[in-house]
Amino acid sequence: GRAGVTLTAREPAGLFHAVQTLRQLLPAAVERDSRQRGPWKVAGGTITDTPRYAYRAAMLDVSRHFFTVDQVKRYIDQLALYKINTLHLHLSDDQGWRIAIDSWPRLAAYGGSTQVGGGPGGYYTKAQYRDLVRYATSRHLEVVPEIDMPGHTNAALASYAELNCDGVAPPLYTGTAVGFSSLCAPKEITYDFVDDVVRELAALTPGRYLHIGGDEAHSTSHADYMEFMRRTQAIVAKYGKTVVGWHQLTGAEQVKGAVAQYWGYDATGAAERAQVAEATKVGTKLILSPADRTYLDMKYDRNTDLGQSWAGLVEVDRSYDWDPAAYLAGAGVDPGAVLGVEAPLWSETLSTSDHIERMAFPRLPGVAEIGWSPQSARNWDTYKVRLAAQGPRLTALGIDYYRSPVVPWPAE
Ligand code: ACM
Repeated sequence: GRAGVTLTAREPAGLFHAVQTLRQLLPAAVERDSRQRGPWKVAGGTITDTPRYAYRAAMLDVSRHFFTVDQVKRYIDQLALYKINTLHLHLSDDQGWRIAIDSWPRLAAYGGSTQVGGGPGGYYTKAQYRDLVRYATSRHLEVVPEIDMPGHTNAALASYAELNCDGVAPPLYTGTAVGFSSLCAPKEITYDFVDDVVRELAALTPGRYLHIGGDEAHSTSHADYMEFMRRTQAIVAKYGKTVVGWHQLTGAEQVKGAVAQYWGYDATGAAERAQVAEATKVGTKLILSPADRTYLDMKYDRNTDLGQSWAGLVEVDRSYDWDPAAYLAGAGVDPGAVLGVEAPLWSETLSTSDHIERMAFPRLPGVAEIGWSPQSARNWDTYKVRLAAQGPRLTALGIDYYRSPVVPWPAE
């Protein structure tokens, strides 16, 4: 009515998301952290809203560069504003192991002691990680922890010589190459390691999912990959979690209920797409993260100073203008197999909150809308006007963003 606003929802998350919508109806100045003069008027009307996809995620790579608890909390607040409900944390890679594991203490203490470029790195204690998960939960985000295996494991291999097939620990790695490391699939100690890590991580995880990576295992033979993924998925299931893997998981047998995260792009071959489609026919669900649409670390244009460009340049319109239901339909993926969308942010070139924000904004709100709104309510020409209105809000929040020339930003 004229005198107030009523929010109703079936579940607490719905009420929280309704508040985020209400925030966007208020003047941009409400987002400043200083006291603002009223009255704050909201246009009258009724909004009946429900998300298209249950899984609406962002990923942060805290391995290539370490981000502190406070930096991750800042990103969580930004994600929550756009009703993202899942935070995937890429907790281990060649350059750093970022979570304390009591039964293998050198993983964090030594394997977490550096990062890309040779800086000091860091890791989360269990208390810090629990605090992060609590903070995310308070904003209705579920945390999906990832330990990337069997490749992307140099930090672990450097920490424990016995995990290497030749018994020799490699040095720590601070470069940005991929595909050179592998856990030793034929050694039994490998599965003791996986069991301990998964058990401790599952105990820190109130959420359903545990991500085991599985991408770019170029230094693992096919037979070893099959065996490693078979045994590792069984361990995740034993500790009560649902397996998520990058879509290379579909090259191995998948445990019942597994989820594959597709990160291909327009140049990905038909055979690889067909393999992913085949997996959905045995019940594997998909998270869509096409690299030339949703990878927030791709450069916007030739002049972007941060980021990479192996999947191409990804302007804001390209990032927004695709339909998850149609994306792999040509390969035979039924729209019902799609759980949702995720925007990963890899940090080879990123080391500060300002870097995160300049790459995530303004593409992240577009991925959030893809996850939330029905396709019939979405098109670039109307979206770009709605996105432009976010500019002053981002400014009020102190979020640095890319002033894309394809968005009609208002003068501020
Ligand atoms: C990936 O980008 N290697 C998943």
